[in-house]
Amino acid sequence: MADENINKGRRRFLTASTAVIGGAGLIITAIPFVETWLPSARAQAAGAPVLADVSKVEPGQRLRVGWNKQPVDIVNRTPDQLKWLDSLDSRLRDPDSKEPQQPKYCQNKYRAIRAEWLVFIDICTHLGCVPDYYGEVKPEPFDPKWKGGYYCPCHHSRYDISARVFQGVPAPLNMVVMPYHWVDDTHVLVGVDPPKGSPQLKGALTGSLKGVAA
Ligand code: FES
Repeated sequence: MADENINKGRRRFLTASTAVIGGAGLIITAIPFVETWLPSARAQAAGAPVLADVSKVEPGQRLRVGWNKQPVDIVNRTPDQLKWLDSLDSRLRDPDSKEPQQPKYCQNKYRAIRAEWLVFIDICTHLGCVPDYYGEVKPEPFDPKWKGGYYCPCHHSRYDISARVFQGVPAPLNMVVMPYHWVDDTHVLVGVDPPKGSPQLKGALTGSLKGVAA
């Protein structure tokens, strides 16, 4: 039963890659431009960097790209989603991201370089399913106090909108934030750390990157 669910989750990723997916998971819009930047299948398998254009990703939406054979979600978080982060600390297993599940520059409550944008590998740290995005701040059947985040249907693990795992679920760790950086305001290079000396290495930046060197 568990294996069957895991396979379903992986299949879902394969059909959904390089798509923008709305908060309710119903609106799926292909973005041909992103596909033009994707490396060959062989290069992706080797972990080649992937450049993603997020210019069409509205607040509350996410873009999914494939990197290193894994689904990477780039989430444009709303102020309403972000304002609950501090209040969730007591319900989380690793609220301060002390476990090495992210680069140093993302070891902050946003787990991000830019506070609004979460960039991470959407793979559950329990047995590797692909959790679903439940972005809306509203009660859900699996959590009446839900503030937006990810829910893994395989064995009911829950993660907040910074991909931090809740207590009392099978998943042991926050989901992984891989190396990445912003090339400009609308392009993310997945798989490569910010250049040496970049302000992005400080993390938790807010607003536009204009005037901030890559
Ligand atoms: S794989 Fe078991 S809860 Fe996600």
